[in-house]
Amino acid sequence: MFKTITLKPTKEKSILRRHPWVFSGAIKAIENGISNGDIVEIKSNKGRFLGYGHYNEGSIAIRIFELNQLTIDNAYWEGKIKKAISQRHHNLDINGKNNIYRLVHAEGDEMPGCIIDRYDNVIVMQFHSVGMWKLKEIFSKTIAKQLSEIDVIYDKSENTLPEVLKQEFQIQNSYLLRKIDASDVIASEYGNQFKINWVTGQKTGFFIDQRENRKLLGEYSQSKVILNTFCYSGGFSIYALNKGAKEVYSLDSSKKAMKLLEENVKLLPQDLQQKHHSITDDAMDYIKQLPETFDVIILDPPAFAKHIKSKNKAVQGYKRLNSRAIEKIKPGGYIFTFSCSQVISNELFKHIILSSSIVANRKVTILHQLHQPMDHPVNIFHPESEYLKGLVIKVD
Ligand SMILES: C[S@@+](CC[C@H](N)C(=O)[O-])C[C@H]1O[C@@H](n2cnc3c(N)ncnc32)[C@H](O)[C@@H]1O
Repeated sequence: MFKTITLKPTKEKSILRRHPWVFSGAIKAIENGISNGDIVEIKSNKGRFLGYGHYNEGSIAIRIFELNQLTIDNAYWEGKIKKAISQRHHNLDINGKNNIYRLVHAEGDEMPGCIIDRYDNVIVMQFHSVGMWKLKEIFSKTIAKQLSEIDVIYDKSENTLPEVLKQEFQIQNSYLLRKIDASDVIASEYGNQFKINWVTGQKTGFFIDQRENRKLLGEYSQSKVILNTFCYSGGFSIYALNKGAKEVYSLDSSKKAMKLLEENVKLLPQDLQQKHHSITDDAMDYIKQLPETFDVIILDPPAFAKHIKSKNKAVQGYKRLNSRAIEKIKPGGYIFTFSCSQVISNELFKHIILSSSIVANRKVTILHQLHQPMDHPVNIFHPESEYLKGLVIKVD
């Protein structure tokens, strides 16, 4: 039914180990008439069936979503969405106070190139593959049927799809379902309220992957003076204020992020609002004169290394940031430090913190080793899907 792509001899090995990407160099022959976004059947050089995937010209030429010889029709895709929903509903405590979560996490849900997030009654989809983007109608119909309380389904792929699709994208309406006329929603994470603008916000509007780590920060916040660097819309800051922090300083270089942060602070009671201070600055500049007044520091920078080529530079960036924070934090203080770079492994990140502790010449103990939550599942055969790593360290 689907056109075939045949691999060069021995190039089936990574697929037999269930890795979901085929690089262009592994391809021997592409059947005539295959376009970007098409579903293709992948065969070994000897003609053995290997799987189904979406084709796209480029370094990663095929993203595999199925390794078994099945019928790939609407019912197949509906089944994937239903499975993703039921896993979240089984494992997460979703209720009126906790209604922000990731519904589909790309390779982690065997749907490479597809991200679907939920903010209360709003669903935001973001596609990184043309093939998945073409399936958006099926996905949205299935979600609307399964979750009848959903009012909005928005496609936020304008900047994540190839240039050639821009025109098509602008013509089509980004709203796949629009029962209410809004571009933001107040949603809740463990009772902490956030205004999420899915049109102008970063990613799909919020960094959902830090939910459990923000909850942990809450437990360390009572009576503390806290610095939240790279704060975006203030995720960690709001938890800290709600959990009794003495003062919270939130810093980001993006004016747009600081505006979102301030809107979130305004959702808090007046007495908590007074404990909050905003700093619009470059974190790398700010840490050069870091005051020695903080009990807790959060370091959650953007991915310093997006590609293997920039890995060494990224390591230096993480070291600069962490060694400064370790040097200047109050004795007995805690640092919540993160990396969301795929190319920085857990081991390398720990090594970076070790080197930073040596440079800072302080005693450092690891209390928690953190990662992404269950709604961002890791496909064990695709180590690249494990991207978020963090440590809580105590500095004496
Ligand atoms: C991974 S996000 C942080 C998410 C946040 N911790 C949360 O819980 O929502 C990284 C943030 O760093 C900000 N950023 C990027 N470069 C920066 C810099 N040099 N100085 C300060 N902030 C920066 C971005 O605007 C973005 O909001």
